[in-house]
Amino acid sequence: MSIHKKINKVSLRTLQSMKNKEPIAMITAYDALFASLFDEEVEMILVGDSLNMSFLGQKDTLSANLDQMIYHTKAVCNGAKRAFIVFDMPFGSYTTKEEALANAIKVYQSTCADAIKIEGGRDKLEIVEYLTKNGIAVVAHIGLMPQSVRADGGYIIRGKTQEDKIELLEDAKALEKAGAFMVLLEGMKSDIATTITKTLKIPTIGIGAGNGTDGQVLVWSDMFGFFEDFKPKFVKRYLDGASLIKDALRRYTNEVKSREFPSEDYCY
Ligand code: KIV
Repeated sequence: MSIHKKINKVSLRTLQSMKNKEPIAMITAYDALFASLFDEEVEMILVGDSLNMSFLGQKDTLSANLDQMIYHTKAVCNGAKRAFIVFDMPFGSYTTKEEALANAIKVYQSTCADAIKIEGGRDKLEIVEYLTKNGIAVVAHIGLMPQSVRADGGYIIRGKTQEDKIELLEDAKALEKAGAFMVLLEGMKSDIATTITKTLKIPTIGIGAGNGTDGQVLVWSDMFGFFEDFKPKFVKRYLDGASLIKDALRRYTNEVKSREFPSEDYCY
């Protein structure tokens, strides 16, 4: 189906109008099958570079590249017709404003992404401004930024000191002024995420940022219990996916070995 035939499509304006009214639900997706399952249940789908870890088995997100992200976003677009789709710009794809715009245009022209997401605070203002002035909808991502894990020496929770809270608030205000239509707040103390949310006119989405943001996002393989390598504190498991799959597969294997499957019902 063409992207032009999307029904009740969640738009940027829909999301803006939800601020102070109804929390926004967002989940990641990386393929058409799961995107189609999620599409009716959430307002937003993030094609996150987290796929590099949860699906490609890499130790961090840094080796994800633009073509790979476009490939997965095309698949998500085939499955999701209603949700607002955010493309996560991978590490190294927005080091200058010109590079960021060229890559964002490539994303817009080759996928159905409604917006792109970039990690960074006031250091990325020029890029955010340039992108938005050229027609790209930008979600800014501040707080714990997975693409900086090697530079930061780990995944560090932000906003533990008054100085850091002020840094985060100033980043968020500046990004809003630069044209970001939404700010994603990751891995920070709840009080500063709430303060940022109350200060900004644009919506915030939290992940590991408490309950005071305008919405929440979780990585689907974490929340459904498929990714077992580690479980961050903020992840609530809504399904014990790995156990369900393993149990079902064990039953299948046993039935194959005992020749119980395929029984007559499954034969021509
Ligand atoms: O890549 C991703 O899934 C993300 C979320 C953790 C917000 O950026």
